[in-house]
Amino acid sequence: MTRARIAVLASGSGSNLQALIDHFRAIGASRAGDIVLVASNRTDAGALERGARAGIVTDVVVGDATLVDLLAAHRIDLVVLAGYLKLIPPDVTQRFAGRMINVHPAPLPAFGGAGMYGVHAHRAVLASGVSMSGPTVHFVDEVFDHGAIIAHWPVPVLHGDDEHTLAARVLRAEHLLFPRALQAVASGAVSLTEAGRVSAPFFQPLPAPFDPSCTDEELGARLDAALG
Ligand code: GRF
Repeated sequence: MTRARIAVLASGSGSNLQALIDHFRAIGASRAGDIVLVASNRTDAGALERGARAGIVTDVVVGDATLVDLLAAHRIDLVVLAGYLKLIPPDVTQRFAGRMINVHPAPLPAFGGAGMYGVHAHRAVLASGVSMSGPTVHFVDEVFDHGAIIAHWPVPVLHGDDEHTLAARVLRAEHLLFPRALQAVASGAVSLTEAGRVSAPFFQPLPAPFDPSCTDEELGARLDAALG
């Protein structure tokens, strides 16, 4: 099997990057891609440290022009945005249409768009009074948080939540959902059609909403069962 060459772009601590690295290690030879590059727009991003620790080449993106060149130099097939806070320039989104995914920590399109990242997204969810939040994985286009949705996993908003407690619960769900979505895209099980839609439902059937009282192993098994 030819594995996709994956670049992960991240601006923050890189806990999602770590989840991707760990999941690919756990599934071993059946992984559909290799993370060959971790890049950040911030020199102090924890993601760079995590990438280096895993033996992955790391780099800093200085400007939009650098990004195109960097991805070309590393012969990247698939780009993963894992907490990357810069808008991706249109030449890159076009070149990687259907080959670039992002994880957003809230339902889309309701809680997305410019400025709706991190605590801002969680605050907006809490202010709206909805009972469910949860991560959304989607293909990336030239508009923030706008591309076709691959997967969403509902995570309950609990009584007394603030943006931090909700963020922590959603992040646990992200760490379980995102690697599985990446595997599905890298293997070709899920793709973007000419019409801009996602080729196949990601879950069949839908998994139960994220249950915070379960262990990660139980929740991961639940997702795997729903993926068939
Ligand atoms: C995550 O909440 C993700 O949904 C968002 O940015 C955050 C990144 O966190 N896009 P980390 O750097 O992966 O810990």
